[in-house]
Amino acid sequence: MRLLKELLEKNKQWATKLKTSDPEFFTNLSSQQNPQYLWIGCSDSRVPANQIVNLPPGDVFVHRNIANLVIHSDLNCLSVIQYAVEILQIKHIIVCGHYGCGGIKASLDNQEHGLIDNWLRHIKDIYRMHEAKFKTLKTQKEKNDLLCELNIIEQVANVCHTTIVQSAWKAGQELAVHGWIYSLEDGILKDLDVCITNINEISQTHRLK
Ligand code: CO
Repeated sequence: MRLLKELLEKNKQWATKLKTSDPEFFTNLSSQQNPQYLWIGCSDSRVPANQIVNLPPGDVFVHRNIANLVIHSDLNCLSVIQYAVEILQIKHIIVCGHYGCGGIKASLDNQEHGLIDNWLRHIKDIYRMHEAKFKTLKTQKEKNDLLCELNIIEQVANVCHTTIVQSAWKAGQELAVHGWIYSLEDGILKDLDVCITNINEISQTHRLK
């Protein structure tokens, strides 16, 4: 009961399989990591970063939270971004949300969910900013889907507004911030085409001199 034997057994099988196909795999990875990507995604168990882009351990630096939010004062997320950008010198930050996100749905249902409501309120703010667009939509599914997309676009902007990313650009570091959405129904990622690659592409109000 306390050991979760099944998982430990699965782990052994996984490690053995990897080692068989590449005997040096763990030896090489244990000395250093050199990922090119920072993934900021939802905690949802159905959206595992490495698996859906089919990349092995060592290739993706990952931060996940409910509804893939990048909050200006979230030291956890900001620390991940700082480490990824300044130390690991990653080239791409991918904010990846997904349709059918429970956090997005919950932010719109006007029910009480406890502590998490304080987190979900950031999503409600995005709804409020775009309220007119939602008024034209008929079904709740359409509204949820639109909010999933707008949330990703907003979080891409939040990443770009950090001092970390702006400083990297000012120093000439090559860094692109992408917004992607994943479909639980077919396992396919869609690029929302909101990629930002330099300081001139962000809003004047947030641009640091
Ligand atoms: Co989600």
